[in-house]
Amino acid sequence: MKVVFPTMDTLHEAGEALRRGELVGMPTETVYGIAAIATNPTAVLNTFALKKRPADNPLIVHLASAQDALTVVAEWPDTADALANAFWPGPMTLVLPKRPHVPSETTGGLDTVAIRVPSHPVARALIRSAGSPLSAPSANSFMHLSPTRAEHIEDSILDGLALVLDGGPCEVGLESTVIDCTDGTVRVLRPGHITRAQIEAVLGFEVVEGHSTVRKSPGMYPRHYAPSTTTRLVKSLAPTDVGLTFESPANESQIQMPADPNGYASALYAALHQMDTLTPAEILIVEPPISPEWQAVWDRLRKMLG
Ligand code: TXA
Ligand code: MG
Repeated sequence: MKVVFPTMDTLHEAGEALRRGELVGMPTETVYGIAAIATNPTAVLNTFALKKRPADNPLIVHLASAQDALTVVAEWPDTADALANAFWPGPMTLVLPKRPHVPSETTGGLDTVAIRVPSHPVARALIRSAGSPLSAPSANSFMHLSPTRAEHIEDSILDGLALVLDGGPCEVGLESTVIDCTDGTVRVLRPGHITRAQIEAVLGFEVVEGHSTVRKSPGMYPRHYAPSTTTRLVKSLAPTDVGLTFESPANESQIQMPADPNGYASALYAALHQMDTLTPAEILIVEPPISPEWQAVWDRLRKMLG
C-alpha cells in the first residue's frame, strides 16, 4: 500500500525516503503536494518530470517554522516579517531573494525563492522527519486539477512516489496566496484564502495584483487547474444539466455547493474530481457572487475556462 496513514513509523519511513532522494505525497491545508528535499537537484528534477511540468516554473519550499526562512532567503524585509507573523503557519507563500545554496532547479532559474510554513501538522512533521526544507508543487500532472484528498492523486503521479501520507481532506482546498516581497512594492501573484484585504490590513498600505514587467512569475498561466471535462459558467442549471449549483440538486449529477466563499473553496476541487469521474460532455458551474471574498475562487474558475 502506497497510501498510508501518518504514524511515527510512516513519518520516519517517509523522512528516510526523502533523504534517499525519493518523492513523497504530502498533505497540506491547501492541496496535496509532491515533496522532495528542496536542496537536492536530482529529486527536484524528478518532481518536474513526474508532473510533466516546464522547468522554468518554480517550486514552493516548505519550512517547519518561520525561523527556518533565514536558512533559504538572503533578505527578510519588514513586510515579510509582518506577513509571516500574521499568517504562518498557513496558506500563504512569500517570494524573496534566495540564498546561493538553493538550487536553480528548485527556483526555475530565478534568483528568488518562494517559501511557506504549512499549518497542516502532518506537513510540518514530515519536514522535521526529513530534517530539511521540502519543495512541493501540487500533486497533479501539469495543468490538471490539484488533489484535495489522497484518493484524487492520479495513478501516473502515484507511480513516482515512494508513499503518500493520507492527512484527510484539505481544509482550505485552493493553492496558497503567493505574495512577492522582493522589493518595496508588495504584489499578490496568486490569489488564495488569505485575501488582499487581509494582507493590506496587516501591512497598512495597498498592494498590487499581478507580477511586475521585470519580474515575471513563470507559473501563472491563463489556463490551469482544469478538470479533464470542459467547464462552462452559467447563471443556473436546467433539471437535466451536470454541474455545480447553489440550489438543491435536481438530479444525481448535480452538486450543491456551500454559499460561503471558504466553504466553496474547500469543496470545489473535490466536486470537480467527482464530476470528472462521471465523464459528462461538459460540467456547468453556476457563477458565484462577484465580490473580493470570492476572488480566489473566481481566479481558479477563470483558469479552468482558459
Ligand atoms: O498551496 C500551495 O501553494 C501548494 C501546496 C502543496 O503547498 N503548492 C502549490 O505549488 O500550489 P505549485 O508548484 O503548484 O504552484 C507554485 C507557484 C508556481 O506556479 C509559481 O507561479 C509560484 O508558485 N512561484 C514559485 N516560486 C516563485 C518565485 N520564485 N517567483 C515567483 N513565483 C513563484
Ligand atoms: Mg499546481
